[in-house]
Amino acid sequence: MSSRPPREQSNSPDENRSASTVLVTGATDGVGRATALELARRGATVIAHGRSDAKAQSLESALAATGTADYETVIADFTELDDVRELADHVAFRYDRLDALVNNAGAFFESGELTAEGVERTIAVNHLAPFVLTDRLRDRIEAANGRVVTTASAIHHRAEFAIADLETTTDYDGMDAYARSKFANVLFTYQLAERLDRATANCFHPGFIPSSGLYRNASLPVRLFMAVLSALPSVLTDRFTASAEAGAETAVYLATSGEVADVTGQYFDGTESAESAPKTYDEALQQRLWEWSESVVADV
Ligand SMILES: NC(=O)c1ccc[n+]([C@@H]2O[C@H](COP(=O)([O-])OP(=O)(O)OC[C@H]3O[C@@H](n4cnc5c(N)ncnc54)[C@H](OP(=O)(O)O)[C@@H]3O)[C@@H](O)[C@H]2O)c1
Repeated sequence: MSSRPPREQSNSPDENRSASTVLVTGATDGVGRATALELARRGATVIAHGRSDAKAQSLESALAATGTADYETVIADFTELDDVRELADHVAFRYDRLDALVNNAGAFFESGELTAEGVERTIAVNHLAPFVLTDRLRDRIEAANGRVVTTASAIHHRAEFAIADLETTTDYDGMDAYARSKFANVLFTYQLAERLDRATANCFHPGFIPSSGLYRNASLPVRLFMAVLSALPSVLTDRFTASAEAGAETAVYLATSGEVADVTGQYFDGTESAESAPKTYDEALQQRLWEWSESVVADV
């Protein structure tokens, strides 16, 4: 994990600044980038995570262009849980309180592979990384009566979720693994809401966003399909696709709005609480995922 030093002085007038401090993961592209920029415009201190130096630099320019100086970019590769731990320790060292953690970084992988630490890659990046990050930052979030917001997906509805499948790399199907990891995001959120004493936990579907970077590892036909959808005029696609900025509206809403200050353990589609898949409400399954996650991260 490496980080850039925070700017020493603020360009924004005090009266326009919010006291809130928000960590957004996966802030170098798509929904996370739009979320980080909107939070910066609203005066939050933004800790923006990415995995690439070059993209973090580009994000810094965009953050500076919002007029704020209250930001920091931090680098960590979520395929390495040790990197995630370093990121958490860095944030915990620098900030006494965290008003919101937006667990947004996510990836889709066409082929099944283990990370260098021996964990299936999709579940490592999409579920275990936010699991570890949230756990290590829990006291900072609770110190602020803060919020944990996780970017899930409506695709979780198609998952046939079984704990035993989480470690599968043989017989791997990229879309199944991705849907399982997003199902895990919902189970995690519901169980986290039960376990947090002084903070809330919610998750959301940001909409179907073909223009985001998510599909870069997908098969050629899928990539072509997304490119075509992204190129079509929005009047033709508006009913079933969204922009990264539209997806970010929900993240910002859940991270900041007074309307949801006391709402916890919910799945949102836009700014409306929505039903997630029936099996996500199974408390025993939520607990089994939690225990499985604890046992995997304890060994890595
Ligand atoms: N796009 C959709 O249709 C859609 C629908 C529902 C839910 N979602 C969810 O929305 C979230 C954001 O996705 P997006 O659509 O905005 O995709 P995106 O444009 O690809 O952004 C994903 C972010 O996560 C980062 N990331 C990817 N792999 C990482 C790794 N190994 N370590 C650290 N960071 C990593 C990316 O870094 P780089 O910039 O370096 O790639 C990027 O900042 C994800 O959780 C996704 O599952 C997306």
